Amino acid sequence: MSKNTIKQYQADPDKLVIEWADGHTSTYHYMWLRDNAPENRHANGQKLIDTLSIPLDLTAKSVTVNGTVKIEWANDGHVTDYTPEWLRSNAYEVVESESRRNTRKFWDITDFPETPPKYSYPQLTTDNIALRDMLASVRDNGFALLKDLPNESEALFKVIDLFGYVRDTNYGPYFDVKVVTNPTNLAFTSATLGGHTDNPYRHPVPTLQLLHVLSNNVEGGDSTLVDGYKAAEVFREEAPDQFDIIASTLVTFRFSSDDADLSHESTIIQTNPRGDITGIRFNNRSMQTFYVAPEKMTDFYTAYHTFAHMLEEDRFKLKFKLGAGDAMLFDNQRVLHGRIGYKSSGDRHLQGCYADIDSLLSKLRVLERVTRDA
Ligand code: FE2
Repeated sequence: MSKNTIKQYQADPDKLVIEWADGHTSTYHYMWLRDNAPENRHANGQKLIDTLSIPLDLTAKSVTVNGTVKIEWANDGHVTDYTPEWLRSNAYEVVESESRRNTRKFWDITDFPETPPKYSYPQLTTDNIALRDMLASVRDNGFALLKDLPNESEALFKVIDLFGYVRDTNYGPYFDVKVVTNPTNLAFTSATLGGHTDNPYRHPVPTLQLLHVLSNNVEGGDSTLVDGYKAAEVFREEAPDQFDIIASTLVTFRFSSDDADLSHESTIIQTNPRGDITGIRFNNRSMQTFYVAPEKMTDFYTAYHTFAHMLEEDRFKLKFKLGAGDAMLFDNQRVLHGRIGYKSSGDRHLQGCYADIDSLLSKLRVLERVTRDA
């Protein structure tokens, strides 16, 4: 018998309990059943019933099972049909277990024995499967490398056009990264840049960054990427008390110039109520003077040192050199980017811009739909 076969059921005053043929038991509260009935769900995902129109003490006048589960509601006599397949696949305990944090895959350098593949920009413009795979790499790995971009200023916008919109900031629609005199930002020097996330002083933070290399003829100047979620998970395993401090202590990030004064208070590691890591803001340069209770200060700095050192460890740090026409697109809430210092003789010129990952994920889901049978 299929696992979607109902063996028996029990209609309680407030809920329906189903025992399936495979021995599994699922509980469905009437309030939830009425609120989430498939008949009230438009194809666009929007719910067509007002939850407040359903009485909290909703009960069933009758429940019958004959192929489908039919419920006649006590409050208005309406009858709703549910298929066993829908009930099984939406059972709450299944949803709960499938979305647990341990099912997500993060990476360290052992997952990339070779330099990750580079997606060719011209192919992305004509080949939906290549574009889908590139966007899936950003979703699953937090980054994708690209090659064969036109070697011209503002070519980076053409990549963003493939899936979404450029996010303007106080730096403009894009910014140049090259050595300048009197730099306002360490990025505009030739020094080594430790792994960091950009714009932690913004809320919402730009969730994607694209860096396009126009020239890189210097000695050094390699790019580095670290999966911040992986490092944070290992941090949680190796030093759980320190992880809790970093995930619960608020710090302030700020950037100020003649025409901008941006400030945001956040934890360095963000988690959701289930304990999933949902974001990293790590940028030592932007951290402001901050305050915690005196008895906690030493512990905070100890934990900060541990995590900051981990982010610089070779086991997490992917290193590669990008040349003219290459680019990297990455999740700015997950992946930390950095640069190995270089001699400033020779040319090194990058252009960067921001975008947001919701458009990327939306485009990816649409492409997955249209290429499923391709
Ligand atoms: Fe940066």
